Amino acid sequence: NHLFTFDPGFMSTASCKSSITYIDGEQGILLHRGYPIAELAEHADYLEVAYLLLFGERPDKTQYQDFIKLVRNHTLVHEQISRFFHGFRRDSHPMAVMCGVSGALAAFYHDALDINNVAHRELTAIRLLAKMPTLAAMCYKYSIGQPFMFPLNKLSYAGNFLYMMFATPCEPYEVNPVLERAMDRIFILHADHEQNASTSTVRTAASSGANPFACIAAGIASLWGPAHGGANEACIKMLEQIGSVDRIPEFIARAKDKNDPFRLMGFGHRVYKNYDPRAKVMRQTCYEVLQELNIQTPLFDVAMELERIALNDPYFIEHKLYPNVDFYSGIILKAIGIPVSMFTVIFALARTVGWIAHWKEMYNQGNIKIVRPRQLYVGHEQRVFTPIDKA
Ligand code: CMC
Repeated sequence: NHLFTFDPGFMSTASCKSSITYIDGEQGILLHRGYPIAELAEHADYLEVAYLLLFGERPDKTQYQDFIKLVRNHTLVHEQISRFFHGFRRDSHPMAVMCGVSGALAAFYHDALDINNVAHRELTAIRLLAKMPTLAAMCYKYSIGQPFMFPLNKLSYAGNFLYMMFATPCEPYEVNPVLERAMDRIFILHADHEQNASTSTVRTAASSGANPFACIAAGIASLWGPAHGGANEACIKMLEQIGSVDRIPEFIARAKDKNDPFRLMGFGHRVYKNYDPRAKVMRQTCYEVLQELNIQTPLFDVAMELERIALNDPYFIEHKLYPNVDFYSGIILKAIGIPVSMFTVIFALARTVGWIAHWKEMYNQGNIKIVRPRQLYVGHEQRVFTPIDKA
């Protein structure tokens, strides 16, 4: 036992070397390939950030246009995938469906199973990036019984996603540029976050040589939990449970009570002990969206008042608990009209590029060691076995 360091939750263990994302949690810094997240969110779009994450450098104009074309070439999913959806109950949680359909892609693209072939790896990366919005929107359409919408490739990545979510074959749909930009920012801000639970899950699955679609499905499963990607959904449910501004103190008191398991969802972060730099951008976008849609409901009043109180409360200041990115992203998604059960699906869609970037990096680094943590054994010492009929 003494040979192993006990580090549950990997609080002080680096599981790999990576040059994709840098986080300084004390200072609240997040860089992708050296570029600050706020600048990427302000000046780039999701596909430019995706290119940066996947290839290590920003694209020039030609590379950017070629990349967009390439991604557009792969936005459709196989027609049989559409039938695969019909095996799920309509009231399934969309994350359950996402786990299934993303893993099922391996049954359609046999070349992806040849993970030692670099060209196949590159193609799989593009396929995943291109097909995730289509699959995510299909999850939603299936749940409400509307026909699946084919991608409209002249639109931007974010615009196309909104189109596939909200258009119907009988109604024209105009993408609102403010909402399109907000969606794009949500994608950028969720694109990667170094060795979080889901990315570590993808790397762990990949370390055994599992196919990339299975690895991404594993990442989606890990993301689903409320302490990770499920927080945006849990946050809206909590705001609904609070219900009105006058009930906030009661919930703040519960969050502080050590005997109460209740936590304020959308607050706190394992790494950031300062303002989450993604939350800063998301907060601004949140205000823009609420203004654009002229939304005034008790839910948003509760959110804004909760933010104000928590930011000034000694417990939250002492514990360094700031609103995280999912506090604001949930509010934006809700305002756009996206149902709460789809929130984590959207996180998965956006994080897919980060997962693929890590998967690619692992393979490009070579010398992959299968992830095999050890444990501190706390069970019985060796015992004598007596057959059951002799006992
Ligand atoms: N509300 C109230 N108290 C909290 C909260 C919260 N949301 N988060 C942490 N604390 C307290 C906790 O009770 C503990 O107090 P004490 O030291 O007095 O016992 C202290 O802060 C440290 O908590 P911890 O659980 O040891 O911290 P952690 O780093 O293991 O947990 C976390 C990080 C994100 C799981 C946690 O803050 C949490 O559960 N937050 C709510 C869920 C959430 O919003 N998750 C989304 C994270 S951002 C999206 C993503 O990257 O997936």
